[in-house]
Amino acid sequence: MTRHFLTVDDLDAAELLALLDHADALKAERAQGRRQRDDLAGRTVGLLFEKPSTRTRVSFEVAVAELGAHPLVLSSAELQLGRGETVGDTARVLSRYLDALGVRTFAQSRLETLAAEGTIPIVNMLSDLAHPCQALADLQTIREATGGLAGRRLTYLGDGNNVAHSLLVAGALVGLDVTVAHPEGHGPDRDVLARARAHAATSGAELSVTTDHLGAVAGADVLYTDVWASMGQEDEADARAAAFAPYRLDGDALAAAAEDAIVLHCLPAHRGEEISAAAIDGPQSRVWDQAENRLHAQKALLLALLG
Ligand code: CP
Repeated sequence: MTRHFLTVDDLDAAELLALLDHADALKAERAQGRRQRDDLAGRTVGLLFEKPSTRTRVSFEVAVAELGAHPLVLSSAELQLGRGETVGDTARVLSRYLDALGVRTFAQSRLETLAAEGTIPIVNMLSDLAHPCQALADLQTIREATGGLAGRRLTYLGDGNNVAHSLLVAGALVGLDVTVAHPEGHGPDRDVLARARAHAATSGAELSVTTDHLGAVAGADVLYTDVWASMGQEDEADARAAAFAPYRLDGDALAAAAEDAIVLHCLPAHRGEEISAAAIDGPQSRVWDQAENRLHAQKALLLALLG
């Protein structure tokens, strides 16, 4: 059966932890100088972008190449998709050429249609609802920095967006406690939260959603934030700035967190907005490891889907 990765819980907890182990091994191997592998020799992986990207585009392209496959970067503006060809027809055609397709898009339903109508694995490289590949790298980073996941406490400050959704679901799967502290009216999606809570009932993870930013950061092992206005919300940036200001990840938040708390941000960052320069560039920041881990985690993912 063709497997897809549209949301984090397309993997079960055991698969997710095994994938992180594999990502760690791939990272160690690369650090020792072994970059080129041939696991996916002769395969072609399409990478379709309907939104801009730096990390996702480059980390996936390098991951595919280093696994021995050919990466084919596509833009919907350059495909007939951008002139009205249906998503279903695009899925059927691309399935005849490619071995897998990563997609960065808007509605989650576009990914679901590609998965339903095509015959190759579809990977969510970010949708409005979820950013599961980011969550893989986040878990890998938290585990390598703190020594574990279960029982650690992550506080996400800001918008209950796709990144927050995937953190909630990923944390719930592996027993990582996740608190999302958000301004009124900007909380996570209820259905995603319900799904995360169902997983937490099995793992024992404690999940909470609150507008109390001070209470949320107290004692946290991981502080995480993302931009206040995601791609497509640029018009709302000024209105959001006032509401989100108390949720900034800064020295006050770090002072209230655990002494050895780490700072994460999926990037791109806006210093002085959702995160202070001192927090992102300071000694507790692990954001560059986090960005690097996209490469290793996505290699492990591609091998799990195609290997
Ligand atoms: N974090 C992330 O997905 O970065 P890009 O938008 O640059 O891919």
